[in-house]
Amino acid sequence: MNKLIRPIILTLLVVASAMPAVADSMVDVFCYTSAHDNGRGGLRVAWRPEADSAWISLNGRRGVVRSDFGSIKTMFAPRLAFADGQWTATWNLDAEGSAMAITASSDMVLWQPQQYLPADKMAAIVPEAIGACIPLTAIIDNDTITGFMARAPRAAIDQYDVASAAAGRRHVGRGERLVNDSVTYTGLKPLRANIKIDAFHPKKVSDMLIGVFFEDINYSADGGLYAELLQNRDFEYSAADGNKNPDWGAMYAWIVEGDDARWEIAETDPVHPNNRHYLHLSAGNGGASVKNTGYDGICLAKGETYDFSMFCRNNGQRRGNIEVRLLDKGGKVIAKGKCKANAGGWDKVACSIKCPAACDSATIEVAVPGNTQIDLDMVSLFPRHTFHNRRNGLRADLAQAIADIHPRFVRFPGGCLVHGDGLDNIYNWKETVGPLEARKPDANIWRYHQTRGLGYYEYFQFCEDMGAEPLPVVAAGVSCQNSGVAGPSHHSHDLVTSYGQMGGIPMDEMDAYVQDVLDLIEWANGDASTQWGSVRAAAGHPAPFNLKYIGIGNEDLISPVFAERFEMIFRAVKERYPEITVIGTTGPFVEGSDYEAGWALAEKLGVPMVDEHNYNSPGWYINNCDFYDAYPRERGSVYLGEYAVHRPGKFSTLETALVTALFLTNVERNSDVVRMTSYAPLLARHGHTQWNPDLIYFDASNVYPTADYEVQRLFGTHAGDTYLPTTIAADTERADVAKRLGVSTIVDSKTGETYIKVVNLLPVPVTADMDFAAAPGAKVTKTVLAGDPEAREARSVESMCSASDMASATYGPYSLTIYKIK
Ligand code: AHR
Repeated sequence: MNKLIRPIILTLLVVASAMPAVADSMVDVFCYTSAHDNGRGGLRVAWRPEADSAWISLNGRRGVVRSDFGSIKTMFAPRLAFADGQWTATWNLDAEGSAMAITASSDMVLWQPQQYLPADKMAAIVPEAIGACIPLTAIIDNDTITGFMARAPRAAIDQYDVASAAAGRRHVGRGERLVNDSVTYTGLKPLRANIKIDAFHPKKVSDMLIGVFFEDINYSADGGLYAELLQNRDFEYSAADGNKNPDWGAMYAWIVEGDDARWEIAETDPVHPNNRHYLHLSAGNGGASVKNTGYDGICLAKGETYDFSMFCRNNGQRRGNIEVRLLDKGGKVIAKGKCKANAGGWDKVACSIKCPAACDSATIEVAVPGNTQIDLDMVSLFPRHTFHNRRNGLRADLAQAIADIHPRFVRFPGGCLVHGDGLDNIYNWKETVGPLEARKPDANIWRYHQTRGLGYYEYFQFCEDMGAEPLPVVAAGVSCQNSGVAGPSHHSHDLVTSYGQMGGIPMDEMDAYVQDVLDLIEWANGDASTQWGSVRAAAGHPAPFNLKYIGIGNEDLISPVFAERFEMIFRAVKERYPEITVIGTTGPFVEGSDYEAGWALAEKLGVPMVDEHNYNSPGWYINNCDFYDAYPRERGSVYLGEYAVHRPGKFSTLETALVTALFLTNVERNSDVVRMTSYAPLLARHGHTQWNPDLIYFDASNVYPTADYEVQRLFGTHAGDTYLPTTIAADTERADVAKRLGVSTIVDSKTGETYIKVVNLLPVPVTADMDFAAAPGAKVTKTVLAGDPEAREARSVESMCSASDMASATYGPYSLTIYKIK
């Protein structure tokens, strides 16, 4: 043995033999929160071996567990204690200490789902060790900090070190960015490689892999996909929507004009009780008008016909002529139409207007004659041309951009919108079907307004028009974990239940809620003789929609409150509709408490599929290309329901797009377990974007697909049902080089086409031989998406090539190449 090494080993042996004594010893553990972030940064922990030693911080003074409570996420007076082999953390949820949170962990890395209870109820479950914590003022790195101290075994601290190091390893490479490649790959020469495709071992995979996630966020529905051009048509905008705009209210986007004109927002005897507010307009001698400015102006196309309609109640005796004018930016009339307002009760009036000129920022004016008293509601203007020319339809250009992805399914209506801002804001599908005036508008968790004109009927219709499966998601009887609702609701009796999901729908109301979910399935699939099938038929769709999937829950905290309600809904659906695939949820991340608890619950109940969410950095995706290789095949499968590569600045570039492409080649390899995926979010209106990046941006007149859109489109239009094991071996010893290459081969048995995808995420070209036996003379379409990773826009280029071109080809730096072989 080397003479130098021997003494080191002896020393290690001596230290090791002394270790049990150290590990058995008790140490002081101090916990606190930072005043700088109001405790939102979580529970911070330090320890010291002796009373006179300096404090040693864990996790670099960052929190080891954060509060998930409501929107406040603040920890008041946290305590941490170790007893019976586990750590318990508690904290108050408000300054008064009227309610508390509790969680536990064996290693201070993976924490159990948090529970929230009024303080008096919590007293019964808090371990004695928490009560024994003593208040202390400690000096940590020269800062004087107040908190609580307890005693814990040194071994428990060591266990934290081991577990946190292991957790940290999962994050290795997270910071990797293509922009640093000139340093990382200095001197890297062009590579040679071999691509092997094993046609003898085909694997049946999901033919549903690429879908879309539609959430009414960023003005995706009203002011977006829903083709209605008038904003606040129902006069239902309200301060309760929580919008920060000081003008937000029933008259938002409306202007009343006319000498002596008077108006008020009235509620007496409305068009429908679900739609309580309307405009009462009194015209003076000279008449009056009301203008709507649409969503940042109304965009009119030359030659297009527009359908105007509204409910009006003429309070005078005469039939009143109403003129509807489309005005350009300068107020000049571009086109006009006329309606008659009969005297009497509410009447729906309509006219169509052909527009002779384009205008990207028009307004509409509804003018009434002098001395008229009239009530107006549901004032609407639609382009005649919508997607598939549906009445009450969708904006054709946006819907077409979505259809071009060839999505196999559409998930709707969210996202957080599904479980809503507090229990009263849970999305209720029944309020979104039927005549427009009878639908119930509501506040949007993203702080604007939902007319629900785009409701369940329209979502299902859109799916059918695109040939995509509908995937409605319903709340699991709890509201969004980020709910900010703190006021009393009819469900709330104390602090805990008044903060969003923490209370859940009271159990005595759950039967009715479960019935709503069952009714949704009957509405979609029941024949016209069933109660809810008849509602669908009356709306114009006698044939069932053939719903196959339903999601229950959206990245919820897997708390006992959630689990109890989820199980109830799951069992009811399974019993009544065993043919429906229920999709559960595993929380907001692909690691951590909710992920572990979500999977455990799914396995316990036999949930066939779970919805995973993963917004992560380019480096995470590059370094976790094998993420699904290790997934057990015998449990439920995965719907990667929300994911996106988030680079600094949060926008889509060729980097995020190609990193996604690399990841998707690996998902295709695993599409026996990952059966569905949807990038999120889908749409964002310029000027109203609350979340970045999104797949498709738009304004009133244009659609701006991102680089990531191009990748979704390419994978959606080159998808199939069979995977042929495909590998690429490059002439490099470097694992960091090899991991930047991705390949996948998918066969579509319906079309007989084969799609071979090659991703080169390196800064150098790769020349590869491919042993794929295409029929001689086979027609091969080659599609290439390539360029500067920093480019914000990227479009693929298509060309024809031959099988021999494919047999030896060069894949440029930063490129995705797809061969389509007929
Ligand atoms: O996609 C945007 C939001 O991200 C969704 O509403 C929510 O589910 C997730 O946190």
